[in-house]
Amino acid sequence: MRTHHVHVGDNLDILPTLDGPFDLIYLDPPYNTGGRVVTGYNDRFEDWTGFMAPRLAHLPRLLAEHGIVIASIDDRECHHLRVLLDDVLGARNHIGTVVWDGSTLNSSRLLSVSHDYLILYAKNHAALKTAGTTWRQPRPDAEAMLDAAARSWRHAHGDRAVAQQHFRAWLAPRRSTLPRGLIEYDRIDDTGTLYRVGDPGAPSVQASRSFRHLTHPTTGRPCPVPKRGWRMNDASMDRMLADGLIEFGPDHTTQPKLKRRLVDNATAVPRSVFRQEREGARHLAGIDGVGEFPFPKDHTVLARWFTTVTGPNARILDPFLGSGTSIEVAMALNAADGGTRTVTGIALDEGGIIENVLVPRLRYCEATYREQVSWGAVGAGPRDVELRRRHTTAA
Ligand SMILES: C[S@@+](CC[C@H](N)C(=O)[O-])C[C@H]1O[C@@H](n2cnc3c(N)ncnc32)[C@H](O)[C@@H]1O
Repeated sequence: MRTHHVHVGDNLDILPTLDGPFDLIYLDPPYNTGGRVVTGYNDRFEDWTGFMAPRLAHLPRLLAEHGIVIASIDDRECHHLRVLLDDVLGARNHIGTVVWDGSTLNSSRLLSVSHDYLILYAKNHAALKTAGTTWRQPRPDAEAMLDAAARSWRHAHGDRAVAQQHFRAWLAPRRSTLPRGLIEYDRIDDTGTLYRVGDPGAPSVQASRSFRHLTHPTTGRPCPVPKRGWRMNDASMDRMLADGLIEFGPDHTTQPKLKRRLVDNATAVPRSVFRQEREGARHLAGIDGVGEFPFPKDHTVLARWFTTVTGPNARILDPFLGSGTSIEVAMALNAADGGTRTVTGIALDEGGIIENVLVPRLRYCEATYREQVSWGAVGAGPRDVELRRRHTTAA
């Protein structure tokens, strides 16, 4: 059974005892709101950068060569954290800073702040480029279109023309708001697949391109070939024909077109701003026996970014574990995609978080996802042993 590790204590003491490498280090430190936002743990620091610097100093040693750091932070300390991370990881390794526009947290009279940041660093940005690493995320607008097309297909009971008409009626009022590249996907084929047609001609004359005459499936006569040949070579043409990705016209006088399925283009390189209501607290409150923890991170947001920047077998370190969101995310993702992600988390025993929130949450996760948590696996102290005993007894 897969095991995640929780160390109880100050991460300043525990980080030096850990061995890497980790593929992802997720940092969600206290934001230093100083009482502006009420938290269940100490969130007021005279010298926040002085608190963070010695902890961040461990990152380079613990990160894998292709490792990534994601740090959650708000407006107050964002620029300080950037400077600290530039110091330990190098400014050249800053990939970018993502703005998460959620719901407002305060009732200020001058500015209603609704966003947080996710600061992204690589251990070695240049190595990611050399390896040709690309990040993709599902496009919510494309997913909405795919859902609508599926509904149209069900409504039409296999009649392609009815499905297409039904889908276009859904699309019509959305044409002005959806991106232009997406609204071209307005055809549904005999299998219910949403697609658009594309120009099949090669942009310039290239010897490797196919000049093959395609036989029309109904008339049995050869169709016209684009002047500069097809976009693809003979082997790709064979593959596309076999996959049904060539669309023939009503007869052989029309040039066949390329079929582009939306499902193959439903992801994009992530954008640096996204909007999503904060749902973490509601989710946590829905787990039986879990006490209050203000502002846990959203499991859906973490899941999206964890899967964007790492693979299904990622080793993840969370030095500010809090209510344990990262462990639940890893377990849920493993259950969904068969991955083997493991999380090593460090939790400070303050404000009753461990007993009232972390232990019951992880118990729920173990039962739901059939993975386990070991407490204080490295350098276990008496407190870890006691927690492990209580955790096991309660289960
Ligand atoms: C912003 S919260 C993290 C929330 C967490 N990501 C979640 O979703 O529940 C910051 C957490 O860091 C913890 N913390 C503060 N100082 C710490 C330290 N020195 N070592 C370990 N954890 C610490 C706090 O107790 C708090 O739970």
